[in-house]
Amino acid sequence: MPGDGVGPEVTREALRILAEAGQRFGFAVASEEFLIGGSAIDAFGTPLPEATAIACLESDAVLLGAVGGPAWDDLHGDLRPEAGLLGLRRTLGVYANLRPVTVPDFLAGASPLRREVVAGTDMMIVRELTGGIYFAEPKGPVEGTQGAEALNTMRYSEAEIERIAHVAFTWARRRRCRVTSVDKANVLEVSQLWNDVVTQVHSAGYSDVELEHLYIDNAAMQIVRRPSDFDVVVTANLFGDILSDLAATLPGSLGVLPSASVGGSTGLFEPVHGSAPDIAGEGKANPVAAVLSAAMMLEELGETDAAAAIREAVSETLSGGVRTADMREEGCRLVSTEEMGACIADHVRQAASKEHKVGAAA
Ligand code: NAD
Ligand code: IPM
Ligand code: MN
Repeated sequence: MPGDGVGPEVTREALRILAEAGQRFGFAVASEEFLIGGSAIDAFGTPLPEATAIACLESDAVLLGAVGGPAWDDLHGDLRPEAGLLGLRRTLGVYANLRPVTVPDFLAGASPLRREVVAGTDMMIVRELTGGIYFAEPKGPVEGTQGAEALNTMRYSEAEIERIAHVAFTWARRRRCRVTSVDKANVLEVSQLWNDVVTQVHSAGYSDVELEHLYIDNAAMQIVRRPSDFDVVVTANLFGDILSDLAATLPGSLGVLPSASVGGSTGLFEPVHGSAPDIAGEGKANPVAAVLSAAMMLEELGETDAAAAIREAVSETLSGGVRTADMREEGCRLVSTEEMGACIADHVRQAASKEHKVGAAA
């Protein structure tokens, strides 16, 4: 689903690279396009048409660009483009949103933070995605005693916290065996439950993993101050949304952060960024986040070599100094969205022809 704003621009490049990887690794990606968000509102009057939801449920995986934009900003509640995306996440049941943030050496200079602070960053934000304040009832506008009021409810069940904690600990075991659970347990009852349940899950089965708890305000500061200390960060829906945009300052741009939402019937793969209305339609958007989301999709579908090849092609492209405007550095070659996609595709292809040559020589 291309969605709105820069969504179509970046998913086009992701599809191009999926096709290229398929050529090299011997699979084909059969894809169909559906409307979601603002474009679906314009066409059908709803941000999540039934045909879109059904197609997603029937697919092996869903790739999404972004939704929303100024054209739909006056809409409220379930009529907003964003409600379409939230509805889709719930429909698919993808409660675990994985948002990896890495800063390879060749990107350390692109960060607004000092190179020595961000170098070596390799964290995985595990964001709870289908609960918390985004969904719980009651919510909405209410009649107050002194005019209009509105409310949302931050609510979690033990079961919802348990399952996301298992995801975090399992990921930590594949990485550096460290989990930071982020909450606001010094103030919020819902966070006290979060903290207790994460601690219980930890002591019941993950004694090999180190667990620490941080309050969200402090966590935001520590992630900027000493990012390379973090391994897996597990947190509630709203806190994870905020921390992942904050973490974009580490590699220097939101345009390189991918995500995978899993745990449900079908995986949903989308960049962390939004529809970037300020640059939409100008060919300036960085397609790397969408391309890396497609790589996470292939990883999830079992095409691990193809996923690794895409990540490698992105690294070669960026380390070669090819940059979209969001990551411009002195001496770089400034390119458009499409040129960036073409460059990554070339690297996927060239690696394949090198393999053939090696094969032929042998
Ligand atoms: P945004 O992520 O769209 O943009 C924030 C800033 O980052 C902008 O300056 C933008 O130009 C830049 N940026 C984002 N993606 C980029 C890319 N690929 N390449 C280069 N620069 C990029 O956030 P926003 O401006 O707060 O929101 C705009 C709209 O997008 C809103 O309607 C919002 O609800 C929606 N949104 C959607 C998603 C999603 O679909 N997953 C995520 C976030 C925001
Ligand atoms: C994200 C976005 C979404 C969210 C919006 C568009 C619903 O900001 O994926 O990070 O808040 O989850
Ligand atoms: Mn967000």
